[in-house]
Amino acid sequence: MLSLRENISLLSYNTFGIALYAKWFAIPETTEDVIELLRNDRPEWKSKFVLGGGSNVLFTRNYEGLIIHPEIKGMEKVKKTKDNVWIRVGSGENWDDFVCYCVSNDLGGLENLSHIPGNVGASPVQNIGAYGAEVKDCIEKVETVMLKNCRKKVFSARECKFDYRNSIFKKELKNRCIITHVTFRLTRNHEFKTRYPDLEKELDGYPETSIQTIREAIIAIRKKKLPEPAQLGNAGSFFKNPVLNIQQFNTIRQSFPSIPGYKCEEQRFKISAAWLIEQCHWKGKRIGNVGTYKKQPLVIVNHGSASGTEIVEFARRIQRAVKTHFGITLETEVNIL
Ligand code: EPU
Repeated sequence: MLSLRENISLLSYNTFGIALYAKWFAIPETTEDVIELLRNDRPEWKSKFVLGGGSNVLFTRNYEGLIIHPEIKGMEKVKKTKDNVWIRVGSGENWDDFVCYCVSNDLGGLENLSHIPGNVGASPVQNIGAYGAEVKDCIEKVETVMLKNCRKKVFSARECKFDYRNSIFKKELKNRCIITHVTFRLTRNHEFKTRYPDLEKELDGYPETSIQTIREAIIAIRKKKLPEPAQLGNAGSFFKNPVLNIQQFNTIRQSFPSIPGYKCEEQRFKISAAWLIEQCHWKGKRIGNVGTYKKQPLVIVNHGSASGTEIVEFARRIQRAVKTHFGITLETEVNIL
């Protein structure tokens, strides 16, 4: 059923814990609800914003338009071969519930992406990634409804134009479509991705390597290294790791030989934003109610009742420090509204 409400507090809809309001707030539960909502567009809605689990967004002011928060549920096995199983999942399912379902059913591919907050619908938008895996490698297709004509449109993985923390849904189609379902291709004969140093080390403590122990190890690492939003408001990595071309990478390595970086694609190198921030003495730093997390400075945390603008100002200061010290621009990964 479609629910449409007015003047809704966003507090429980964003992991930063920002207490602002949305003028209009709709919760569609099916694709048909999404179409019905869009067909009955109202002039007072002005702008529209699609909000998933609220784990990658920072509100800096009340939202005067319509927020659409899909709660489309369901996980359905749609195809099976000797090697793979395809599952079609509603965009409103919790991401980690889905990963847990896969691992419990011995379906592989997503175990490295365990314990990431947010909903399934957001996973292709920013091509979530962690511990040597990216969701793009398991996505078969993404089903959407286009805002301009209320029509359904399906995107193949190729059409999604996936890149590091990026996709067509974050660029050309930003705020132009609503993701209703994602179909994932999971493995039955697994290929473990265990080369990420932290993961390799953690797995040493387990008797065997399986998708189940990988999930356990990742949850253990994330619990040790990252703050739980329920205890300390945050939206995970606030910045992206900068990607440099070979000339830029060699130049910076000459001045800073210990900079952590690795080849991520042909002639391109990803360097650690956490390291850059730490070198500028912003690790664990706090100004008023805002700070960087003591164990991972890429994560900005809300220590109490910080406002969105205070958080943005804090982030700008980090960006200025990194720019001054290294000449590198840190791009934000969180969606600032
Ligand atoms: N590092 C430091 N100081 C620190 C922490 C890290 O110098 O305090 C350096 C170290 O050299 C370390 C390297 O940074 O080896 C990488 O650190 P980490 O493994 O914590 O990963 P990250 O590159 O900082 C990315 C993702 C995280 C993801 C981890 C694990 C981005 C923007 N972030 O962080 O994603 O969990 O890898 O794979 O790519 C998120 O998106 O919200 C998120 C948490």
